[in-house]
Amino acid sequence: MVETELLKADMEGIERAAKFLQNGGLVGIPTETVYGLAANALDGKAVAKIFAAKGRPMDNPLIVHISDFSQIYHLVATVPESAKKLAKAFWPGPLTMILPKADCIPDEVSAGLPTVAIRFPSHPAAQQLITAAGLPLAAPSANLSGKPSPTTAEHVMHDLSGKIEAVIDGGPCKVGVESTVITLASNPPRLLRPGGITLEQLRSVLGEVEMDDAVLHPLKEGVRASSPGMKYKHYSPKANVIILDGNDEQYRNYVNSHIAPGVMALCYDEDCAGLKSPYLCYGAETDMSQMAHHLFDALREVDLLDAKTVYARCPAPKGVGLAVYNRLMRAAGFEVLHL
Ligand code: TXA
Ligand code: MG
Repeated sequence: MVETELLKADMEGIERAAKFLQNGGLVGIPTETVYGLAANALDGKAVAKIFAAKGRPMDNPLIVHISDFSQIYHLVATVPESAKKLAKAFWPGPLTMILPKADCIPDEVSAGLPTVAIRFPSHPAAQQLITAAGLPLAAPSANLSGKPSPTTAEHVMHDLSGKIEAVIDGGPCKVGVESTVITLASNPPRLLRPGGITLEQLRSVLGEVEMDDAVLHPLKEGVRASSPGMKYKHYSPKANVIILDGNDEQYRNYVNSHIAPGVMALCYDEDCAGLKSPYLCYGAETDMSQMAHHLFDALREVDLLDAKTVYARCPAPKGVGLAVYNRLMRAAGFEVLHL
């Protein structure tokens, strides 16, 4: 048990966090997507502590964060044209690229795979910290494994206080869902996890991009996951989340005829006026970015409110809506009621 320090995202806080990282410690860091739990990516022992703190299965590889494009050359075996084009269009930002790894990447980071995931985040505090530490930082989302990803420093403290050296408070995360993950180690490139950079945007730069089956569907029994993270139950509050697939009137009618203690609605802003159950709104029906921004906070909030059953509305799987759909489907264990 350590006393976890809550640091400001100023020079002093960043310097202190950099020291912890250089000494093999763990620090919760803000990024534009979600908070990450960082360690020195080149130190297998430090990285192993991340898995222990989160309760994360060891076969789930981590993303390595950099603060300048040139750093990628030390971490991967080759940098293809496709990576340069994507970096030019979307870095720094919420995009992770998977490439064949360099020898310096410890097995703890790549979980024994021949590839490594690289991201250049746009959050200034994340960039300053990577630069101050002088190290690439391995960082998964800073939640307990299986729980919704943290989008505030308070969420990180809630899950990991006492288990890590420090958290830098860089305010609430802008995007709110984890980065888009694309593998460039297959031909054509394949989208493994949707996020703030959309499939449409990736295709506009690269041409053909496939979408992995696991983005929209539960993994079939016996099928190997391209991205190990996708096989685990994820983003789940304690409450049972059920997605209701129907129009606004069908949604309202269903919820209003299933009122019971512990029933709660997770709905669009437009729905709440007609609901007779307690509710949480997570954004306007037409604004997917707003939904992405609020989703994980709402999923944590339903636990704080002690909800038992959550009836959720889910956007169409297009644009940033694909990322919201992907996370909410996993939170619901793919349980959808067609109205
Ligand atoms: O926005 C984000 O990506 C955040 C912030 C902190 O940067 N990080 C994050 O990390 O979401 P994590 O560990 O929660 O998710 C990483 C995902 C997992 O699904 C993992 O399986 C996949 O990326 N991944 C990592 N390395 C991979 C590899 N070499 N091949 C395939 N999938 C990989
Ligand atoms: Mg995660």
